[in-house]
Amino acid sequence: PPVVLIGAPTDIGAGHRGASMGPEALRVAGIAHALKGRGLDVIDRGNLAGPVNPWLPPRDGYRHLEEVVAWNRAVLDAVYAELEAGTLPILLGGDHCLAMGSITAVARHCRERGKKLRVLWLDAHADFNTNVITPSGNVHGMPVACLCGYGPAELTHLGGASPALQPGEIRQIGIRSVDPGEKKLVHDVGLDIYDMRYIDEIGVSRAMKEALEGVDADTHLHVSFDVDFLDPAIAPGVGTRVKGGPNYREAQLVMEMIADTGRVGSLDIVELNPAFDKRNQTAKLAVDLVESLFGKSTLMRD
Ligand code: ARG
Ligand code: MN
Ligand code: MN
Ligand code: MN
Repeated sequence: PPVVLIGAPTDIGAGHRGASMGPEALRVAGIAHALKGRGLDVIDRGNLAGPVNPWLPPRDGYRHLEEVVAWNRAVLDAVYAELEAGTLPILLGGDHCLAMGSITAVARHCRERGKKLRVLWLDAHADFNTNVITPSGNVHGMPVACLCGYGPAELTHLGGASPALQPGEIRQIGIRSVDPGEKKLVHDVGLDIYDMRYIDEIGVSRAMKEALEGVDADTHLHVSFDVDFLDPAIAPGVGTRVKGGPNYREAQLVMEMIADTGRVGSLDIVELNPAFDKRNQTAKLAVDLVESLFGKSTLMRD
């Protein structure tokens, strides 16, 4: 089935402007060509439309809530339509608030088809804030909480039923920045977090084996790839850099081990911010890693 690129050029949920340029930077870095090189049919549907970023301070602990809802409705509808048609949607963000739309679509698709869902959340951040505990009001720090039912009704009920997702369906990988109130909430909810401390101790290989445990032929695997997952030394083109992330080899292994499952059904590439990048190197790196995610390897393996 074809792979479909969907651009969502917005920074509506972020604290820095520029993630709105992400889709074009990924196209310029050759994402379509790279996927075609993997033997895939690629269709670029162009960009979704949505409200401009009014760049206002938070209200009630949320910045731009109304606009965030509008963008996520557009993403939800577009991603859901692709899954219905049997294609593999790749969301080109845009900031990470958009994962509410894409994952709500994926979850609905899985419920309707009686499929199991596993979400791999590759990120420096847990993105599990609420309007009460957020240090910033930026909604890109809240999507996982909203998907699990903690948030405003407009976002927790995007797809009708809430919560869209059970905490047990998510594995977070690469985490190294969690805010104080957020720390307590992810603990209380029992979120499965493979933080950098854990990865340092047991290594990427064992951590990924654990995170992928139970993924089988009945599982739809959704990968939500926040580019700030990567160490900023190799990926400076993001708005919220946190040192101590996976290096190039570690990131490659993460992608290769996900590819080995053969179960990837949808992907977000978010938080790429060309305004912070140098010669589009972070976009090129993201494309390089996406090739591995779709099975590129040095040798034939069986
Ligand atoms: N935890 C911080 C906040 O809530 C940063 C969130 C960054 N999220 C992201 N998707 N880059 O403001
Ligand atoms: Mn994120
Ligand atoms: Mn992040
Ligand atoms: Mn599917």
